[in-house]
Amino acid sequence: MKKRIGVLASGRGSNFQAIIDAIGQRKIPATCIALITDNPDAYAIVRAKKAKIPVTIIDYSLYPSREEYECALLTAMQQADADLFVLAGYMRILGTSIVHLFSGKMMNIHPALLPSFTGLHAQKQALDYGVKVSGCTVHFVDESLDCGPIILQRCVAVQDGDDEDSLAERILKYEHKCLPEAIRLFCEGKLVTDGRSVRII
Ligand code: GRF
Repeated sequence: MKKRIGVLASGRGSNFQAIIDAIGQRKIPATCIALITDNPDAYAIVRAKKAKIPVTIIDYSLYPSREEYECALLTAMQQADADLFVLAGYMRILGTSIVHLFSGKMMNIHPALLPSFTGLHAQKQALDYGVKVSGCTVHFVDESLDCGPIILQRCVAVQDGDDEDSLAERILKYEHKCLPEAIRLFCEGKLVTDGRSVRII
């Protein structure tokens, strides 16, 4: 039985595209049933339309408070009725009520080897720190910022002369493999979470 995947994205949506492509190539036994975005200018919307995926725009700037925005977001997520929500470059911190409601059914991709370099500009943080290896992490979302149980990680070497853009570009290539892979494992029922550990069976 195919799983229903909902995606939250705020911008360019290259990870969203990687999901669309992997589903199109039958690498993931799923249907992408919704793109939900907080940004009416997100390029992810163009990608969704091309792939005939329904789009819900919840424009953050039109809501008087974060609570009201989150209320609209929650309604859209419940209506989507997804088995899994994927945060693919969703650039807001989700409130705890949404996080709890979708516990174990929501994953995020982060461009660093967590728990190092959480939050924004992870690639710059890694360069500033002087690490020799960075990478990307797919994890389940919990109430901590970028610190939920880790599903998959991939390492990327930092090279002499790297700047934020070059490192981000190299990491992104791994994100595009790692995120669809994690979604596939979820859809095939191969992820078992035990406290902080996610076992792949
Ligand atoms: C990616 O680097 C992702 O890890 C981070 O935000 C970026 C989104 O890129 N959370 P895109 O919108 O998927 O192209």
